[in-house]
Amino acid sequence: QRTQVAIIGAGPSGLLLGQLLHKAGIDNVIVERQSGDYVLGRIRAGILEQVTVDLLREAGVGERVGREGVVHHSIELVFAGTRHPIDVHGLTGGKVVTAYGQTELTKDLMEARAAAGLQTVYEAADVSLHGHDGDAPVVRYRKDGQSRELRCDFIAGCDGFHGVSRATVKDHVTEFERVYPFGWLGVLADVPPVSPHAIVYGNSERGFSLCSMRSMTRSRYYVQCPLDDKVEDWSDQRFWDELRRRLDPELAQKVVTGPSIEKSIAPLRSFVAEPLRFGRLFLAGDAGHIVPPTGAKGLNLAATDVKYLSSAFIEHYAERSDAGIDSYSQRCLRRIWKAERFSWWLTNLMHRFPDTDGFGQRVQEAELDYLVNSRAASTALAENYVGLPL
Ligand code: FAD
Ligand code: DHB
Repeated sequence: QRTQVAIIGAGPSGLLLGQLLHKAGIDNVIVERQSGDYVLGRIRAGILEQVTVDLLREAGVGERVGREGVVHHSIELVFAGTRHPIDVHGLTGGKVVTAYGQTELTKDLMEARAAAGLQTVYEAADVSLHGHDGDAPVVRYRKDGQSRELRCDFIAGCDGFHGVSRATVKDHVTEFERVYPFGWLGVLADVPPVSPHAIVYGNSERGFSLCSMRSMTRSRYYVQCPLDDKVEDWSDQRFWDELRRRLDPELAQKVVTGPSIEKSIAPLRSFVAEPLRFGRLFLAGDAGHIVPPTGAKGLNLAATDVKYLSSAFIEHYAERSDAGIDSYSQRCLRRIWKAERFSWWLTNLMHRFPDTDGFGQRVQEAELDYLVNSRAASTALAENYVGLPL
């Protein structure tokens, strides 16, 4: 089989890239290790920047997020037992973020792909990449016990942090990494969100907490926890009690509890691979970089990588120019490092570290106090939170 662009991975980056290329008349095939249902079952991100929502529109899948996504004009910061709003909309000249689950976005993209008759090979085993250094790359995999070959012009590695794409070029990659000494315990529950119009980020002596949502009837909450905690250690009751203890009294009392429908612990990591292009192989999304979730940037960065990559391929085919291809890595990395910086900073500001003592806690509270009372500092937070311009 032959296609123009072989895409590895059917997560948000792979699916969005496929859709943008299809809109531009560029043929593509996605090769995914898991089943479609497995991909749809992973509960992950929930907050979309304006540029991400705009990209979904451009890809022809902006209808449901426009209808069902919940627009947020502000965020709230809790520290020293008090809650403070940050008017993100007002401070950025009218920009907003949208609460819409990654699972819903993935579903919209999968449906659009199916409707356009584009091919996705699910449950592809032993995917391997060849020939990206030359002119004729090939993707090999096994499907239903049979070996298959996909010849192509370019390979887009959209296969996440543990994928085969970065592993294939690991001898040519420089890695930059920071691993954080705690995790996030996340709970999804069909209860109305405690703060439906603003995500709440909490700093407390007991550790970080976050109140987010997927819809007006589905909430997503997180608490910072030790890395070696097991999900089984956390009954629903223990989770709700801990969440409430980390919020301000007014909000704590408003939390509506209910049975969890998903509960998991995620480690926190900052990671960047450089460069992101290796001949005819390109890394996009989590395959090339990871941010700790504190800044809600992971999914949004994946979307902007894919925007740059689709533009590069469109320039190559339509304008016979490789300028976009040649500058892909540099262009992405400039944006990625700013999001890395922001996510690292917010993680440091909001979490309790093993060596956070009384002094460290007071310094965090002082910075937060400055942040919510200085227009300059609030503006810097708001600009980064809604997403820097493309
Ligand atoms: P992925 O979503 O990882 O998709 C990669 C795809 O490639 C997967 O479907 C995978 O099965 C497939 N694949 C892997 N290896 C192979 C292979 N060898 N061959 C073929 N296919 C392969 N971000 C936030 O902003 N907020 C959050 O709360 C948040 N929570 C997260 C929680 C967890 C546990 C994780 C892991 C991530 C979270 N993120 C969050 C980050 C966000 O979900 C990611 O940034 C986003 O999913 C990136 O999309 P992607 O398509 O690049 O990668
Ligand atoms: C989620 C929301 C956030 O604002 C964030 O920083 C991390 C995760 C969420 O809804 O999952």
